[in-house]
Amino acid sequence: MNRVNKTEETFALTTPLYYVNDLPHIGSAYTTMAADTIARFQRLLGRSVLLVTGTDEHGQKIERSAEAKGLKPQEFCDEIVPNFISLWKLLNIQYDRFSRTSAPRHEAIVKEFFMRVWEAGDIYLGQQKGWYCVSCEEFKEERELLPGNHCPIHTNKQVEYRDEENYFFRLSKYQDKLLALYEEQPELIQPASRRNEVLNFVSQGLQDFSISRVNLDWGFPVPIDDKHTLYVWFDALLGYVTALLEPDDEPTLEAALKKWFPFDIHLIGKDILRFHAVYWLAMLMSAGLPLPRKVFGHGFLTKNGQKMGKTLGNTIDPVALVDSYGTDAIRYYFLKEIEFGKDGDFNEVRFINVLNADLANDLGNLLNRSLNMVKKYCGGNIPLVISEDITANNPLKVIGLNLGEQVKNAYETLAFSQACGATLSLVQASNKFIDDQAPWALYKSGQQAEVERVLYAVLESVRLAAYLLSPVIPNISSSAYQQLGFDIDFNNQIASTIAAPYDVHAQWGLLSSEQKLGTPQPIFKRIELPKND
Ligand code: MSP
Repeated sequence: MNRVNKTEETFALTTPLYYVNDLPHIGSAYTTMAADTIARFQRLLGRSVLLVTGTDEHGQKIERSAEAKGLKPQEFCDEIVPNFISLWKLLNIQYDRFSRTSAPRHEAIVKEFFMRVWEAGDIYLGQQKGWYCVSCEEFKEERELLPGNHCPIHTNKQVEYRDEENYFFRLSKYQDKLLALYEEQPELIQPASRRNEVLNFVSQGLQDFSISRVNLDWGFPVPIDDKHTLYVWFDALLGYVTALLEPDDEPTLEAALKKWFPFDIHLIGKDILRFHAVYWLAMLMSAGLPLPRKVFGHGFLTKNGQKMGKTLGNTIDPVALVDSYGTDAIRYYFLKEIEFGKDGDFNEVRFINVLNADLANDLGNLLNRSLNMVKKYCGGNIPLVISEDITANNPLKVIGLNLGEQVKNAYETLAFSQACGATLSLVQASNKFIDDQAPWALYKSGQQAEVERVLYAVLESVRLAAYLLSPVIPNISSSAYQQLGFDIDFNNQIASTIAAPYDVHAQWGLLSSEQKLGTPQPIFKRIELPKND
């Protein structure tokens, strides 16, 4: 089955479907903030975007978490899921679909997919022996284990030995096809370090993997044998596909795949790379479906070097962070400070310093002082200057003219930190330009035309910076834009896409004297460092 309608104008991406064993934490928020940033950027490019997120609700891990709370698994999931939804709202995530794997229509999709793979001859009954980590929902090689049979990721959990009859997926059959695919599409798995990891893993030989369990009730029955429950990962990955159904669609693969499939990006953390870059691709090949364009495995947020997580209990509460510092601050810090793809340690002092330096001192101050100077020296109106009036060697024009392209490239390659860093360099250059040019002195000596050229260049640069940062800090950017006289809210998807398309607004020189400036207001308040008594 080939995709029918997918065009260049559509862009579909996914976050992982999060386990609901506990409340969402900052690690789950991280992937979702990045995905939302990509979605917002793609919308500015004029594409029609579908952002899929959701929850992965089956399997032993959830079954046990529910049991510990004395709840039925479904009740337990129903209690946890609203916390994800409210956190996404708090973080200003504009998702289009929230896929829950316990949804009845998901079962229909899973069944149809399973039967395709079964009919392709890729499923058989066998005996599974080995060490299982319930927290990872994954079998581990004995050599990977830490002393005392502990999981290398969930270091506080012991793996469990299993020896049972399971259905298997014939992954080994796809080794050569996968290797050929990685070769043909070198961009498929990113960043490069993750691609190498996958290449190594697959080149060493692939073993078939079990896709059913016998001592588990919480999941879908295997369509051909209801004594078995389908392995959580087999059903979870298909949650992406179910998410593509329109509310009124019949739950069939044909309906799900008609518009958005295949996905442009699966955004995931590095711990679930194999599932996406090996198992999922082979499953899709077996079912005869087209493959995603990109699988990007980002790094871990760590605390004192260890992965933060629900199982390890060393995480930070994102709700508390937002309460203390605001949504844009959180989004900015994680996307700017951690190179996407690498691990990043969280440290509150560093967090505060970065926000104060970039958002309060550099960006906020620039907007504020330039608006105030325009008020003082230009009667509060944007100077009657156009880009052509500014000399080609003006340092802000030099940076500004290339910045839109540079930042586009950064967002397209998911280099958020670079996108923010490059934009900030224009902001910093603007502050320096004001100091060097000293418009107050030019004004005093009667050089009005020069004052106006300087202030136009500065205002235009702060506008461009606000625009380019809008996928990351939409609230701050909207406030800056409104102060600069635009009636644009970057949280209003349709209006901002139509009123502020990238090919127009990412160009330096857009600001026009016809606009009326708004009232200057601080866009980001300095944060005080907590005192250590
Ligand atoms: N349910 C599976 C995914 C199924 S997708 C069809 C799962 N869920 S999870 O809740 O455990 O993790 C979801 C994502 O959050 C993973 O991509 C994981 O890497 C990410 N993170 C969890 N802890 C994290 C950090 N400490 N840092 C960064 N990302 C982290 O796996």
